[in-house]
Amino acid sequence: MVIVNKTTGQEKFHSSVNIPERARDEIISILNRDLAAASDLYSQTKQAHWNVKGENFFQLHELFDKLADEVEEAADNIAERVAALGGYALGTVRMAAETSYLVEYTCHSGKGRDHVKMLAERYATFATRVREMTETTAELGDLTTSDLYTEISRTMDKALWFLEAHIQ
Ligand SMILES: [Fe+2]
Repeated sequence: MVIVNKTTGQEKFHSSVNIPERARDEIISILNRDLAAASDLYSQTKQAHWNVKGENFFQLHELFDKLADEVEEAADNIAERVAALGGYALGTVRMAAETSYLVEYTCHSGKGRDHVKMLAERYATFATRVREMTETTAELGDLTTSDLYTEISRTMDKALWFLEAHIQ
């Protein structure tokens, strides 16, 4: 049965995971924010994958696709953690557009370097937030979610390295 929090409007289900109710609510809303950002980042990376042109076209086209796959996997793991905690995952494109903290993707030049720069900025924003949430969720007493954030953090740092190596 779905339970609705009258103050926040947050929906949740019963869960026997032994994390106190209040911490669980907070962790679920943290995760949902990052689910939105991850979905947004996924679509932005695909946007680069489809629109890049120029001399390094194929290499960048492939790289962006590989990064998009990794972000998609992160989004899936975040959403499934929400569900495991008894939360309701807010995962549609419209939900993501409403709550993502990333800025919109606006690269129209087609130039590989411009796409890499724009993606790197957004990956950096997401990576920074993910690293912060590694600590925040640990402080809230959920080392399992913290571990998930650590894993995503490692993937995002590597993605950033791959992107920034092209413009250094
Ligand atoms: Fe493709």
